[in-house]
Amino acid sequence: MNHRSGALVLALLASFACRAEPPASIQSCSTCHGTNGIASESGTPHLNGQLPAFLRDAMKAYANGSRPTAVEQHKTFPLSEVEAMAQFYGEQKDVARPKQDADRTILAKGEKIYGNRCADCHIDDGRDSDKDAPLVAAQDKEFMTTQALLFKSGVRKFPFMMDDSYRGLSNEDLAAVAEYFAAQDQFGSAGEKKKRRKRQ
Ligand code: HEC
Ligand code: HEC
Repeated sequence: MNHRSGALVLALLASFACRAEPPASIQSCSTCHGTNGIASESGTPHLNGQLPAFLRDAMKAYANGSRPTAVEQHKTFPLSEVEAMAQFYGEQKDVARPKQDADRTILAKGEKIYGNRCADCHIDDGRDSDKDAPLVAAQDKEFMTTQALLFKSGVRKFPFMMDDSYRGLSNEDLAAVAEYFAAQDQFGSAGEKKKRRKRQ
């Protein structure tokens, strides 16, 4: 093999290696989470484009019982495939989560609470993250509302410092922030990105 064809083979191998093949067990997830991590039923979270480390930790928390769930499949994750499944969903960025409509008044309320309470960790309207927060832009509204209430009632354990941000918020306040996150573009539109860059 000469030098050039060797380089070509390496480049090809690299391009295959970038895209993880979904592990076999992921098929049992697709009935609810879709083949590419975009869920079709409200109440089920989208997993596409999510941070792999977050997905991995969530699966482990289900498996060891520290995060409650009513879904049987969540209790029997093949631990050897957790990493590969997390990687696969994290890489699904070709199709964005569908944007959900929301009432304008509720959105305005949600935006204000978001800015005061949630923006430190759920950065850029939920498109980015600090302190290991998941990416929640365009996440399913019903799922987000339910999870927020589970945190508030103590059924789901607050992560480090998130409890402070919930202090004094009513159920309606939390539902309004959930609506706000749901109404965002998952990856942001090109126009919005440009505007943001200019402001910096
Ligand atoms: C019967 C439907 C169903 C199946 C099958 C299912 N899930 Fe889920 N999944 C849900 C629902 C509903 C939730 C949210 C409620 C909860 O926490 O249980 C969820 C939540 C999750 C979350 C947490 C996401 C977040 O943002 O907090 C992960 C990760 C996840 N599922 C992975 C999987 C994987 C991997 C499989 C396959 C091995 C799977 N699920 C199978 C319905 C399902
Ligand atoms: C100090 C950082 C921090 C702040 C502030 C914060 N969060 Fe979070 N949030 C996190 C982390 C970390 C997680 C992941 C928790 C876990 O893995 O169980 C999370 C998870 C969530 C989830 C669950 C998403 C999922 O996919 O499972 C919701 C809903 C949520 N936050 C809403 C909010 C809202 C609403 C606010 C503002 C009122 C807020 N958060 C403020 C760090 C934060």
